[in-house]
Amino acid sequence: MQLIRRNRILRRSAAIRSMVAETILTPADFIAPLFVVEGNGVREEIASMKGYFRMSIDLTIQEVKTLWSLGIRSVLLFIKCPDELKDNKGTEAVNPDGLMQRSIKAIKDACPEMVVMTDVALDPFSTYGHDGIVEQNEIVNDPTVEVLAAMSVSHAAAGADIVAPSDMMDGRIMAIRLALEQAGHTGVGIMSYSAKYASCFYGPFRDALDSAPGFGDKKTYQMDYANRLEAIKETIMDVEEGADIVMVKPAMAYLDIIREVADNVQVPVSAYHVSGEYAMIKAAAQMGWLDENKAIIESLTSIKRAGASLIATYFARDAVRLING
Ligand code: PBG
Repeated sequence: MQLIRRNRILRRSAAIRSMVAETILTPADFIAPLFVVEGNGVREEIASMKGYFRMSIDLTIQEVKTLWSLGIRSVLLFIKCPDELKDNKGTEAVNPDGLMQRSIKAIKDACPEMVVMTDVALDPFSTYGHDGIVEQNEIVNDPTVEVLAAMSVSHAAAGADIVAPSDMMDGRIMAIRLALEQAGHTGVGIMSYSAKYASCFYGPFRDALDSAPGFGDKKTYQMDYANRLEAIKETIMDVEEGADIVMVKPAMAYLDIIREVADNVQVPVSAYHVSGEYAMIKAAAQMGWLDENKAIIESLTSIKRAGASLIATYFARDAVRLING
C-alpha cells in the first residue's frame, strides 16, 4: 500500500498519545457533592451509592480538608433534613441555624479557600419531596422563587461562595441575583442548573436525601429529555438573568446538549454526572463486568470533551487518585 497519511502514527505509543491528547482532566475540574446529616461521627453509606456516604458536619470537615489537599477546589453541599422539620414552605431552608447554614460556616472555618457551593431547591425540606411549594397538587412558580431567593441570601450570609439553584422554576436566576445584590452579597456567584432534565438517573440521590416526590413526578418543571432546543433557550435566559456558570444535568446521556450549550454561551459550562450514573458504574464493577477505574476516567473525559469545563461527580476523589496515578 502506498499511503501519504497514516493516522496511526500519532497513536503509536503512550508518549505520543499523551502529546496529542486534546482533553486532560485536572483536579480543579471536579466539584465534589457532599451529603450532610445531623449528629456527630456519623458516616452512613448510601445503599444505592456504594462507597458514598452521608456524613455529619465534623466528618464532612475532614473530608473537605482531604479533598482540598488532593487539589479539588469546590464542594457542592446537600443536606438531609430531619422529617419533623419538613413543611410545604421551606421554613427550615431559610433557618440561619439550619443544617445547611451550619455546614457552610463550619467548612469555611476549617478550609476557607475551598469554594463552597450550595444546593438551592426545596425538595429536601418539602413534605411533598418537590422542588417548590405545592398548592392543589401543583408546584407553584412565583411563591417558590421568593423562597429560593431568600434561601440563597441565607446561604450567602452563612458564607457560601456560589449558590446552585437546581429547581427549574422560571425567573429564579434573576430573582436570586437581585436578592443577593440587595443584601450586599455582591461577591456571591450563581451556578444555575439551567438544562436539568426530568431523569430517572436521579433515583439514588433521592434515596440519599429521602427526597423522592410524594406524588407525581417532576416533569412540570424539569425538562423533557426528548428536547434540545429548550436546553439552549433555558441556558441563554439564565445567562441573561445573571448566572455565572450554567449546568447540564445529567451528563452521559446528554453529551450532545453539553456541546450545544457550550457552543451557545460565553460562560463556563458544568455538567452533573449524577447519582444514577455513579451507581451504574459501581454496580457493573461490582459484578466484574466493567473495569471501574477505566470507566470513571473514560466517562469524565468524555464529559469534558463534550464541552463541560466543570464536572460535579461522586467520583471526584477517585478521579484525582487515578489521574495522579
Ligand atoms: C434536587 C436535586 C436533585 C439532584 C440534585 N439536586 C434531584 C432531583 O431533582 O430530583 C440530583 C443529583 C443526583 O442524582 O446526583 N433539586
